[in-house]
Amino acid sequence: MNSIQAAAATGPGRPRAAAALRRWVADETWVKRLLTARRWMSRAYFEARYLLPDPWRLATSVYEHRRFQASLDMLAARRYGRALEVGCGEGIFTALLLGRCDHIVALDFSRLAVRRARRRLAGAPGVEVRSLDVRGADPGGVYDLVFCAELFYYMSRREFEEVAARMIRWVAPGGDLCLVHGTSVHDAAPRADGAGAIGEMSARVIHDRFCRAPDLAVIRDRRLPRYRLTLLRRQEAPRG
Ligand SMILES: C[S@@+](CC[C@H](N)C(=O)[O-])C[C@H]1O[C@@H](n2cnc3c(N)ncnc32)[C@H](O)[C@@H]1O
Repeated sequence: MNSIQAAAATGPGRPRAAAALRRWVADETWVKRLLTARRWMSRAYFEARYLLPDPWRLATSVYEHRRFQASLDMLAARRYGRALEVGCGEGIFTALLLGRCDHIVALDFSRLAVRRARRRLAGAPGVEVRSLDVRGADPGGVYDLVFCAELFYYMSRREFEEVAARMIRWVAPGGDLCLVHGTSVHDAAPRADGAGAIGEMSARVIHDRFCRAPDLAVIRDRRLPRYRLTLLRRQEAPRG
């Protein structure tokens, strides 16, 4: 029984069912998947969101600033040569990440976001903002750090699996992959098969998939009440 069926059930479990229904309705994952259910809708959805600058209030929200700090903390003291940020939006986090890397390729498929990121980061040394849809193209090369926050739950399961497999290959031997995704009701009450319903792309599904990748070792995995942060490291190439 999934959370909706549980919520619709009657009988002694009704208060719990009502609470589950309230949680499910308040959850945003299913809304995101509904609005991006077709491949073309996803880009249109983001262009529409970016009609207003900073749609997620990344520049002003205390919650987002804490998330950014927690993301930087995941990287600990390590300094990176070449980094890739996937889904950089308007470049707000990119500006912070720049302090940890010599060079960053920041990419996003929203033209409006890319234009604003270029403006924000203009003049900053070692940063290149590219317009690219990772569902259809590779950025080229390998990176000492691949950073990706709040991206995958806008993809179908099939798109996710395909991009995830390629993304692992973008990490240089000995390099890191850092993931940050908000949790949802699907993390709290996972379905046994982990698939099917709208909203299937929970942080659990996304991060667990990378944690199972044979080429990656889990360095840190933090599950906070509202989001999960995972740092993985690609094995060094065998010597000789
Ligand atoms: C919710 S925002 C997150 C922005 C930023 N990473 C953060 O954590 O605050 C998701 C970003 O990913 C971008 N994005 C979504 N799907 C993408 C894709 N297939 N290729 C490139 N960028 C994508 C969107 O345009 C948007 O800027």
